[in-house]
Amino acid sequence: MARQMTEESDTTTSFAQRLLAWFDLSGRHDLPWQQGKTAYRVWLSEIMLQQTQVQTVIPYFERFIQSFPTIQDLACASEDEVLHLWTGLGYYARARNLHRTAQRVTQDLDGHFPRTVEALEELPGIGRSTAGAIASLAMGIRAPILDGNVKRVIARHDAVAGWPGSAKTLAELWRLSEKYTPFERVDDYTQGVMDLGATVCTRQSPGCTACPLRATCRAFQRDEQAHYPGRKPRKTLPERQTCFLILQRPDGAVLLEKRPSPGIWGGLWCFPETATPERTPATLEPLLPNGQQPLQALDSIQHSFSHYRLTILPFVMAIGQPTEVVAEVDSVRWIRPGSDVAVGLPAPVSQILDTLLQQQ
Ligand code: ADE
Repeated sequence: MARQMTEESDTTTSFAQRLLAWFDLSGRHDLPWQQGKTAYRVWLSEIMLQQTQVQTVIPYFERFIQSFPTIQDLACASEDEVLHLWTGLGYYARARNLHRTAQRVTQDLDGHFPRTVEALEELPGIGRSTAGAIASLAMGIRAPILDGNVKRVIARHDAVAGWPGSAKTLAELWRLSEKYTPFERVDDYTQGVMDLGATVCTRQSPGCTACPLRATCRAFQRDEQAHYPGRKPRKTLPERQTCFLILQRPDGAVLLEKRPSPGIWGGLWCFPETATPERTPATLEPLLPNGQQPLQALDSIQHSFSHYRLTILPFVMAIGQPTEVVAEVDSVRWIRPGSDVAVGLPAPVSQILDTLLQQQ
């Protein structure tokens, strides 16, 4: 009887009220960006959290704040420094946009983030949901959010069919998110709904018994939690292959090139790429010894991007001392495996440098 009464009253208490009561008891209150909350800290964390889990983000966030305590510090840093601190987080466009936004806010806005969702969305790397998160979490402005966790909570609660990547489903989810966002305690509500999605309404094994929204959740009522959100229509990712040519000097140093931006791994430092190891890029010709050189093949590496899968075949070619001409070019560097390089490296390049270090 007591349980029934609770559930009945649950259905008459608003979505936001139940969520806030749950947040007070069970939400996350100790995340580093929640301490000494500023728009700068909230923005930085939201960008890092866009495609990355909280536990991965925490050490990156702390290193960033230590290196760049203010947005002005970040704006003044070089792109290489920013990409270096981002190494391993992936989706490097986020880091380049972060840098550009820091420069814009510092130079054009006197160091202050704008205070409307529309103006926040004008800044590089800030979409509608991130703008809503910054406005609500850092400024207390009533603004809805719709990140992956929130899509799942709402899609289940209202049994919204369809893949959230489709325009129609997305519009319906935004409409509901707007409807549920309260006029008071919007910062706690925003954090709470994200926390509920991350810790209770999880993708694989939702903990419905602990959910404050259970009484009105249509997916729960129908025992169809796994149906929501709808899956993306399956398309197999295309497969591509490339060779990394690792030119290694007698002292162990290897040649890295800075990749053009925009583009895959833009601004990061990488081994020269070739279609086949025998066909070396013309720009490297001055470095190469005459005649065919033995190549040492390292283990291949699989790397997944959002839109294709890449197989990397790394080959090491031992060379003599390079000519000065190539060594002086700005976008080319000789790096010794194991040395502390203050530039951004794609994960497979870091992995290969570790392998080379172990071989020495
Ligand atoms: N994911 C996106 N934003 C987040 C936040 N502020 N806290 C926890 N997870 C998040």
